[in-house]
Amino acid sequence: MNVIIIGATSGIGKALALKFSEEGFVVGITGRRMNKLKEVQGQIKGKSYVKCFDVSVEDSDKALLKLIKDMGGVDIIVICAGVGYLNKKFDLKKELETIDVNSAGFVRMSNVAYHYFKKKRIGHIVGISSISSIRGSISPSYSATKAFVVNYLEGLRMRGYKDKFNLTVTDICPGFVDTKMAKGEGLFWVASKEKVASQIFDAIRKKKKRVYVTKRWGLIAFLMKILPFGIYKRM
Ligand SMILES: NC(=O)c1ccc[n+]([C@@H]2O[C@H](COP(=O)([O-])OP(=O)(O)OC[C@H]3O[C@@H](n4cnc5c(N)ncnc54)[C@H](OP(=O)(O)O)[C@@H]3O)[C@@H](O)[C@H]2O)c1
Repeated sequence: MNVIIIGATSGIGKALALKFSEEGFVVGITGRRMNKLKEVQGQIKGKSYVKCFDVSVEDSDKALLKLIKDMGGVDIIVICAGVGYLNKKFDLKKELETIDVNSAGFVRMSNVAYHYFKKKRIGHIVGISSISSIRGSISPSYSATKAFVVNYLEGLRMRGYKDKFNLTVTDICPGFVDTKMAKGEGLFWVASKEKVASQIFDAIRKKKKRVYVTKRWGLIAFLMKILPFGIYKRM
């Protein structure tokens, strides 16, 4: 089987690409940094393909289509590319970049995936949201874009149902993971990339709709949902 991981030059995407290849998949990896893509490709044991592009630019949809063609087709597309800034100065440029990558970029990639799988009448789209999707945060654009991802994925699932084809949509909701994105103070239950990749792989194989990784973040999600703002704002 073939899988594409969008945003696999580092962090969770890279660990997931290595996990899929260990499990015998042909892997296509993407990101903006060609040197990092080559590095990851060097670590992949099986067959692999690379494509260097920025999901936030207009013709990134064409780049993804080209990768699918180069691979001779794909069964699973994982959209992992994302940015997250602490943005202490609450700089507008960073806020807008977060929307361009995490929301607009996500839409570009999932639109290609949807139409491609609709034509095949079968396929699997995976998005990486976040525990941040549940409530607003001091990185407003980050939590808002992740809430967008959760909602958008559900919409894709509904469209697949209405369009009557065999589309699986999985929403992966990580807590803190040990990558360069997980910055700041007060981090806890920080999971290794490898552990998270293994749990994501299992969730994809089981065709889950939504999973927390690691699993205990489901408890934090529950608490986040019920906490009154007066308490939540102090966190
Ligand atoms: N780490 C956490 O605690 C955590 C928690 C919840 C959710 N997540 C989510 O997990 C996903 C992966 O994050 P990570 O923690 O693994 O961080 P990471 O190591 O910074 O990885 C981010 C990946 O996204 C790619 N990317 C970023 N901007 C891109 C763009 N404009 N076009 C194409 N690719 C782009 C990066 O590649 P290039 O830089 O080479 O383009 C990189 O491969 C993100 O969606 C993040 O929001 C992470």
